[in-house]
Amino acid sequence: MPKEIYDLGEIPDLGDVPERMFAELIRPERYGEPNEAFAREDVPVPEIGPRDVLVYVMAAGVNYNNVWAALGLPVDVIAARQKKGEKEDFHIGGSDASGIVWKVGKDVTSVKVGDEVVTHCGVWDPDCPLIAAGKDPMLTPTQLIWGYETNWGSFAQFTKVQDHQCLPKPPELSWEDAAAYMLVGATAYRMLHGWAGNVVSPGDAVLIWGAAGGLGSMAIQIAKAAGADPVAVVGGEDKFEYCKKLGAVGVINRRDFNHWGMLPHWKDDAAYREWMGGAKKFGKAFWEALGEKRSPSIVFEHPGEATIPTSVFVCDTGGMVVICAGTTGYNATLDLRYHWMRQKRLQGSHFANDDQAKGINDLVIAGKVDPCLARVFDFSETGACHQLMRENRHPNGNMAILVNARKRGLKNLSETRAAPSSS
Ligand SMILES: NC(=O)c1ccc[n+]([C@@H]2O[C@H](COP(=O)([O-])OP(=O)(O)OC[C@H]3O[C@@H](n4cnc5c(N)ncnc54)[C@H](OP(=O)(O)O)[C@@H]3O)[C@@H](O)[C@H]2O)c1
Repeated sequence: MPKEIYDLGEIPDLGDVPERMFAELIRPERYGEPNEAFAREDVPVPEIGPRDVLVYVMAAGVNYNNVWAALGLPVDVIAARQKKGEKEDFHIGGSDASGIVWKVGKDVTSVKVGDEVVTHCGVWDPDCPLIAAGKDPMLTPTQLIWGYETNWGSFAQFTKVQDHQCLPKPPELSWEDAAAYMLVGATAYRMLHGWAGNVVSPGDAVLIWGAAGGLGSMAIQIAKAAGADPVAVVGGEDKFEYCKKLGAVGVINRRDFNHWGMLPHWKDDAAYREWMGGAKKFGKAFWEALGEKRSPSIVFEHPGEATIPTSVFVCDTGGMVVICAGTTGYNATLDLRYHWMRQKRLQGSHFANDDQAKGINDLVIAGKVDPCLARVFDFSETGACHQLMRENRHPNGNMAILVNARKRGLKNLSETRAAPSSS
């Protein structure tokens, strides 16, 4: 008979599901700085549907989306769900997990209780007729991000996912390493491999913004694994070595330039000339970092407003600027003359489909992509690590949180059961 609730790390018998669980969750009355927005509470373990899987969470990954969830901006995720009829007045975030399949719905055949898994964060209606007709699920209206747009993410002892979200945990990785890479890795994989006509190829020059960050550290390695030449852009020389070790052929310090932000109006001659001077200087810095006079065939974008005018300007003829975020703002301005005459592509991209999630998982299993786990936090520090991210004071690479795994370095259930808790 399962207990009503288990302490963190007090592992129930395989398959025994308690009524309640601990979560580090957000409530609307706490919206604001992540340090205050997250708090430990106990809540019911979620019910699962016929194609759902309940995962016992060993470790959770940390992503920017739950900084936004904590702030209640740009979307109030709880209000958005309540509008759709969901009743919970709290948000359990967390869009990356490693753990163990603890219970499966009656129609699940792809995983079984006891499987050690990592989870990707793309959810959609498996009965969507567009998906049945072969459309990419990420391009259908039913698509949502688990642990951001859905409740019951990985900042809790149990998380509810759809069966297709589960992928084999790379056996050589610890729980915390395994929890660190999927969201950013699969996003970067789709950006670089998902857009036919501009798929990363051997010899391509690739410009990567925020290259020491979560997305950027994955993008460098994915580009390298494809035989391309990644050039990293970072905000300080202290990050140069890190990017080179991951495979960057050269690194640029964005703080050597000051033409960032929205493009001045083309009729404002003086301001436009000044901007153009900065953009051309940046283009030259790219050639120097690459070691030859070749422009990027792919620009890997996510800062958005501050950088996109430069991204579109320096992108090669027929090349693609692929963007998945607007961290610095949402107004994308560009000089259309360069865009149409040089026949460039500005492509939006958002997370990944099952094949792309498998693509990054296979690269990790093959040892071609490192999860770049930089720092591990205790469950009680869920707010603190999001606060670091909010202030851009987080370490290079990725962060993870120990949930039911109470000690670092553990790789499977039997090791974890046997390990004494370190806290
Ligand atoms: N749509 C999706 O599917 C998806 C998936 C993952 C992430 N995202 C979004 O992508 C963004 C980045 O995520 P992440 O996990 O890579 O975050 P991250 O680890 O914080 O990396 C972002 C990097 O951006 C750089 N940056 C900050 N201000 C900048 C500026 N003014 N100009 C140029 N670069 C700047 C910083 O590097 P330097 O200071 O070194 O330049 C920082 O390391 C977030 O907004 C996140 O929500 C979207």
